Amino acid sequence: MADNEGNIDAKDFGVGIPQKQDGFFLKGNENACYGIKSRLSRIFNPNSGRTVMLAFDHGFIMGPTSGLERIDLTINPLLEYSDCIMCARGILRSVIPPTCNKPLSLRFDSGTTILTSLNDETLEDIEEAIRLNASLLAVMVAIGDPDHEGSTIRNLTKTVDMGCRYGIPTLGVTAVGKNLTRDARYLGLATRVCAENGANVVKTYYCDENFERVTNSCPVPIVIAGGKKLPERDALQLAYNAIQQGASGVDMGRNIFQSDSPVGMLLAVREIVHNGATVDQAFEQYETYKNENKKPCGCCCCK
Ligand code: 5RP
Repeated sequence: MADNEGNIDAKDFGVGIPQKQDGFFLKGNENACYGIKSRLSRIFNPNSGRTVMLAFDHGFIMGPTSGLERIDLTINPLLEYSDCIMCARGILRSVIPPTCNKPLSLRFDSGTTILTSLNDETLEDIEEAIRLNASLLAVMVAIGDPDHEGSTIRNLTKTVDMGCRYGIPTLGVTAVGKNLTRDARYLGLATRVCAENGANVVKTYYCDENFERVTNSCPVPIVIAGGKKLPERDALQLAYNAIQQGASGVDMGRNIFQSDSPVGMLLAVREIVHNGATVDQAFEQYETYKNENKKPCGCCCCK
């Protein structure tokens, strides 16, 4: 217990040395509050400025997606290789061990499924997000969807307001409507609208042409979704292109957990995102891990 007598005199005041002022490493978040910056610093590696998020929230609209039938068996072994996990609260509470201690990007909205209209969403309770120790609040924004654009932007706005109140950053997730093209014009508009409405980070898709226009015109970091399963080399190429053109990371799901070597893919993607690996180097990392960790198939050579 501190007392007020007999203490060594304080004398090392660093007179003449200006107090160190560190700029914040993530673009567009310099003026955010301490809690938001602290949480973002757990998600994004302050050395590389980037993140590898593992997304397995698909079930909230798609049911038991291939690779996510038994999250305890397929996803839990991957958690340690990610920088952040993205999932819905039900799966978090029922299957993800609290001891995994990874920052959580919580799917903060819920609503309709792929069987109906999609994107007709409501928000969860901010106190629930705090109870679950969320580091990021993920909300779908359906720009250009005539039925749900307004309601999803209002959801984003409410989430940003609540997040600012409690120091939790918001991830705006651009949803692509059935009649919209995933080109730079659309993605540029959608990501910018998310950022203008206060998202601290935006998740979107990569596009082959002019993606750097999308990242450059968005004032906050962009992470890309992987989309449908591709051959491993193509998925690594996608991650590489996105990073080269200004993305601050990936928030990938199917191209990780539907791979024949999910850990190998995660390690390979990490090499691209954090360590500047080329596609060839990352693919070699994936193949090496896969070959060294082949499960015995029971044939005479494996016995
Ligand atoms: C759904 C999502 C998913 O998390 C996202 O699409 C990432 O998964 P994938 O890499 O499989 O596309 O945000 O709204």
